[in-house]
Amino acid sequence: MKKLFTILPILFLAATVFSAANQPALIPLPQKIERLDGAFVLTPQTRIYADWASRQTAKLLALRLRQATGYQLKISRKIFSSAPVANGILLTTKNTNTSLGAEGYELTVTTNSVVIRAPAQAGVFYGSQTLLQLLPPEIFSTNVVANANWQMPCVQIEDWPRFKWRGMMLDVSRHFYNKLEVERLLDQMARFKLNRFHWHLVDDHGWRIEIKKYPKLTEVGAWRSGVGFNIDPKSTTAYGPDGRYGGFYTQADIREVVAYAAARHITIVPEIEMPGHSLAALAAYPQYGCTGGPYTIPVSGGVFNGIYNPANEETFRFLENILTEVFQLFPSRYIHIGGDEVRKETWKNSPECQALMKREALKNEEELQSWFIRRIEKFVNAHDHALIGWSEILQGGLAKSAVVMDWIGGGKEAAAAGHNVIMTPTDFCYFDYCQSLDRSLEPHGFAAYLPLRKVYSFEPVPVGLTPPNDSYVLGGQANVWTEYIAATTHLEYMIFPRLDALAEVVWSPKDSRNWEDFQRRLKVDEQRLDELGVNHRHDNTVKLGEWTPSQLSTTNVTMEWDVTGKVKGPGQYHVTLNYDHGDNGLTIVSLALLENGHEMARDTHAGFTGVEQRKPVYVLDLPAFKQDAHYSLQANVRGEGGTDSYGSVGWVFVPSK
Ligand code: ACM
Repeated sequence: MKKLFTILPILFLAATVFSAANQPALIPLPQKIERLDGAFVLTPQTRIYADWASRQTAKLLALRLRQATGYQLKISRKIFSSAPVANGILLTTKNTNTSLGAEGYELTVTTNSVVIRAPAQAGVFYGSQTLLQLLPPEIFSTNVVANANWQMPCVQIEDWPRFKWRGMMLDVSRHFYNKLEVERLLDQMARFKLNRFHWHLVDDHGWRIEIKKYPKLTEVGAWRSGVGFNIDPKSTTAYGPDGRYGGFYTQADIREVVAYAAARHITIVPEIEMPGHSLAALAAYPQYGCTGGPYTIPVSGGVFNGIYNPANEETFRFLENILTEVFQLFPSRYIHIGGDEVRKETWKNSPECQALMKREALKNEEELQSWFIRRIEKFVNAHDHALIGWSEILQGGLAKSAVVMDWIGGGKEAAAAGHNVIMTPTDFCYFDYCQSLDRSLEPHGFAAYLPLRKVYSFEPVPVGLTPPNDSYVLGGQANVWTEYIAATTHLEYMIFPRLDALAEVVWSPKDSRNWEDFQRRLKVDEQRLDELGVNHRHDNTVKLGEWTPSQLSTTNVTMEWDVTGKVKGPGQYHVTLNYDHGDNGLTIVSLALLENGHEMARDTHAGFTGVEQRKPVYVLDLPAFKQDAHYSLQANVRGEGGTDSYGSVGWVFVPSK
């Protein structure tokens, strides 16, 4: 029996040194965590106590706990006192350490009580997310789990984010995801304490937000003739009653999603793309384009000529009227206006645009782009909002208070010049990129490669950017472009677990990053994703061995690894030679699998593994398998220009059907 009204002061609990393996699997890792002896056990009698400010978080927490435990945990107000309560989980903004900031919190778990104390609501919410991760992964079950032991280890946590902007962008233009699908993603972002959802609402391939003044934007612009992008039409359900592909959010939908996000302390930042990537809008209102149209919504990728005409004053009325409705729907101070990949030929070939440039003394189309962005920025600022744009808004001079979202560079220079920047470089943040060098085992997608480990190695502050200018880096963000992603299961596969890695990058202290420990915690988080029914990639690679410079030559040599016990049956072994570091890469001539010294399978093709990779995956077809045989893998390779490379060898086994 727990003694009511007795509080075990944590000072009397000896802090114990636990090995990393005993540490709870928290992602992102908190700033400070001290593991203490004992555990708090959640029972049907446990109560949640909340002050007025914390009531919404208390409700969300009770709901989550109820789903998996079946306990109808009562919520009681605790307005005046902020003292821990026996067998209670207290959420409070009282008596807090204000130095934790607007998003920080303290979480104290003793055998007797749990307290989340935070200066502001976001911190209380983040504390509740950490609390859930202290419980067994089954707490994320969507059904009641019988016979579970709902205990959490005693800990003292002090936590706050490293960066203010912890984001994810979803492109709903290339493929439409409905509001429930978006809310499902917001739940996952919240679990990782991410706080900015950048909603890429419009692009060439579809206009997704209802604008009352311009109904054709969604009547025409939200639909295209087919799914396109060589995607199986049956892989998505986003069709209208007339069979056209697409969809849009009504303003009521938008309000609902905005509120859903706000309850989870996520600000939605809408992107209304201009002046390029605007075919869907121009298909509906061709009079605002440079050519007069007609414009057709494309069903394949590319950078298109659908560009607004800045020489037509009515274009600005149109865009301003749209933004006015957007401002009313989104409480976010920041509004993203795109600005990327404008094909300047369209303006070059337009006599009207050339005349405008002459009138305004603009030397080239880059300056016209800058003129356009500044004009929109003036309007955005006049309505108490701030503008964000992609790297290209730097072209021709950056508008004064604009925030640069760096995808192809410019962030460092912009921060050095005193502009706020958000780092989202393609090399680390583009989750449409493939997660394995072995494309044959990955879904149809974009050709570039972004493995989990690379995301985990992302450093948002550019090298060489020093204090105080590093403080202009607001944070980082994952971008999910959906040209090749038409279904939620595929979308989730692309996002998880890479979002686990990004969440840690933008929240946790830089020097706490530890790939091995992250992998340990990730195993548990994958269980949580399974409980939640959220799809994710699972790396099935079996590590076979390594190579070091001492094995190499600049002429062909054979490296060999004993793989006995790792051959599991007949089928395909997809072997990847994975360069890790060193100046010189490896040219690969062939790989072979030997059984008791006899060659059973060979793949000979020219491959290379280094800073750049060229076909480093070798497929070995093993027709039959002997339980007791000795197996070895041989690689015929040479150091290219030198022999200083280090790397590892792994395979994925695809059994014969
Ligand atoms: C972008 O990826 N075009 C911002």
